[in-house]
Amino acid sequence: MPGFELFGAEERKQVNEVLETGVLMRYGFEGARNNRWKAKEFEKAFAQRMEVAHCQLVSSGTAALTVALAAAGIGAGDEVIMPTFTFVASFESIITLGAVPILVDIDDTLTLDPKAVEAAITSKTKCVMPVHMCGSMADLKALKSICQKNNLILLEDACQAIGATFEGKPLGSYGDLGCFSFDYVKTITCGEGGAVVTNNKTFALHADHYQDHGHDHIDKDRGAENHPFLGYNYRISELNAAVGLAQLDKLNGILKIQERNYSILREALSTIEGVSFRSVPESGIENYSFLSFFLPSKELAEQAHKAMTEAGLDACFYWFNNNWHYIKGWSHLRDLKSLGKLPAEIINQMQDLNAMDFSKSDAVMGRTISVLIKLGWTESEVKERGQLMGETITKLLEKA
Ligand SMILES: Cc1ncc(COP(=O)(O)O)c(C=O)c1O
Repeated sequence: MPGFELFGAEERKQVNEVLETGVLMRYGFEGARNNRWKAKEFEKAFAQRMEVAHCQLVSSGTAALTVALAAAGIGAGDEVIMPTFTFVASFESIITLGAVPILVDIDDTLTLDPKAVEAAITSKTKCVMPVHMCGSMADLKALKSICQKNNLILLEDACQAIGATFEGKPLGSYGDLGCFSFDYVKTITCGEGGAVVTNNKTFALHADHYQDHGHDHIDKDRGAENHPFLGYNYRISELNAAVGLAQLDKLNGILKIQERNYSILREALSTIEGVSFRSVPESGIENYSFLSFFLPSKELAEQAHKAMTEAGLDACFYWFNNNWHYIKGWSHLRDLKSLGKLPAEIINQMQDLNAMDFSKSDAVMGRTISVLIKLGWTESEVKERGQLMGETITKLLEKA
């Protein structure tokens, strides 16, 4: 998902405009900033692109999740349902607020299985957090209906799926709140940064205050601002926002290149008996940042991944054995290892993650390989790559 592949003069121009004023902060300093408001401009443009009323920029995707949860009033002891396949940030943002992550199985969409979500709801559940991993989505229609029935917040983690759509709506805009990351390896990057989007005016106001120490942003003099409630510092800087503005202009072009490269690779694998593809819910359109496919068994997926790597195919991921993205590799979270004491609600309510049966997730993840789609590949390079992938997997399956 590397927007950094298309980093150039446009980003430098935007950053230079900030450097010329020397005002690196997104608030205040009206006299010196020469009317340059990169964060504000990015928020306006991003809200427009995501077809929502409000966007709040923050310092990272993890900050976006934390701010979004806080903005929705999630706090100590509230349960947030999240998938077993995600990034550790989902877990961290929930725990940070004293809330309790409840992990449930994924299905062949590679994110929340609606049936598992329904079964995990208790009187303490406040929020369902699908994580749109690797460019595609959960069955959002089913999840929204579960949330509406049970009066729960639907918070989409769209950090890895910017530009994908569901029922014609940009991912992130379908739920009550949506979160994005612009870290260095995301589809568009600003080095470090993130965004919360929402159509809910109250959540937007809460996010605005919470990410800047609770300041109400009503008075121009920062020292004179009031604080309706507690907040922290999750602000983005003008420099990061400037890069993001230039990258946002490139998003549609990036998505086009991804779709072309993805389609060529998918075509190359589509006739191989034994290979099937990640399921995309009806009316969903991926952002094509990864091609994710299944082999018939865990053993074959492991062998295929090894054979692909040995054949010189880079950027192929076998998440099942990856320490960042699947519960199997998160011993520090399963054991709740923390530098200081965790809130009692977390200690008392947490599932025993070492004892939980996530065999349904294992059955999906054990068979999954994801190939990152790069932007810099020429059409003929992608075709060669597709051919080599096809030959490598076919050879392996024929031997099996
Ligand atoms: C699905 C998902 N959520 C959240 C994050 C956190 O984003 P950041 O690195 O900007 O904190 C990431 C980053 O990899 C991610 O992949």
